[in-house]
Amino acid sequence: MGERITLQKLRAQKGREKITALTAYDATFAALLDRAGIELVLVGDSLGMVVQGHETTLPVRLEAMVYHTAAVRRGLERAFLVADLPFASYGDPETALTSAAELMRAGAQMVKLEGGHHRGEVVRRLTEEGIPVCGHMGILPQSVHRFGYRLDLEAPEAAERFLEEALDLERAGIELLVLEGVPPLLAQAVTAELKVPVIGIGSGKGVDGQILVLYDLLGISPSPPPFAEDFFRGAGSIEAAVRNYVQAVKEERFPGDGEVPSSR
Ligand code: KIV
Repeated sequence: MGERITLQKLRAQKGREKITALTAYDATFAALLDRAGIELVLVGDSLGMVVQGHETTLPVRLEAMVYHTAAVRRGLERAFLVADLPFASYGDPETALTSAAELMRAGAQMVKLEGGHHRGEVVRRLTEEGIPVCGHMGILPQSVHRFGYRLDLEAPEAAERFLEEALDLERAGIELLVLEGVPPLLAQAVTAELKVPVIGIGSGKGVDGQILVLYDLLGISPSPPPFAEDFFRGAGSIEAAVRNYVQAVKEERFPGDGEVPSSR
């Protein structure tokens, strides 16, 4: 077994070496990602879509997140494990603490939540209790019925506000940030301003690391987002496909330059 990946190690990689991340939902895939060199594994609430077959992530219950987090935990030896707080499980600080505690007891090392500066109080409460928090800004799948899967951040004032919200979240205590579907130049600016690592999905290459939904990378999602690349084609095995992804992220060959920000 190689060296365990810690938050400190991920933080030290900022600006030096790209962070490689993927989602996983079970022990077998988790062990495979570990062997292939993935540094951060996310038990994403995307499981509502790709595992449970729902149209959105909204039906995912905390119990399901706990179940899958525990399974992934058993498969991992090395990678850092993050679990999503599901829809409506973190509306106020005390509810968030109860939900996050369940995920941490199941083996998560950090929890991720969606939203901007209005999540500040929740982030403060969790970090106060010793729970590391990852923010998630940009396209917010849990708010799809309000905002859809598209973002309008092209106007300079909107971009400025977005950056301010990211900084507010950092001041509140997030120790990692995921940006989904954010215009690459803005994602790059946020990455430059924040001290914590920023991991992108459909947000260009100017971030500190990349994450994809595992089934998109394997080319088995029924409707993969346009920025996902099928790493399985020609790889010969799932493990080789993941290794190719790790190498492509490390060498900054993925994502390519001409990427269109958009989501599933
Ligand atoms: O739920 C998920 O898989 C995610 C990633 C898309 C970042 O949040």
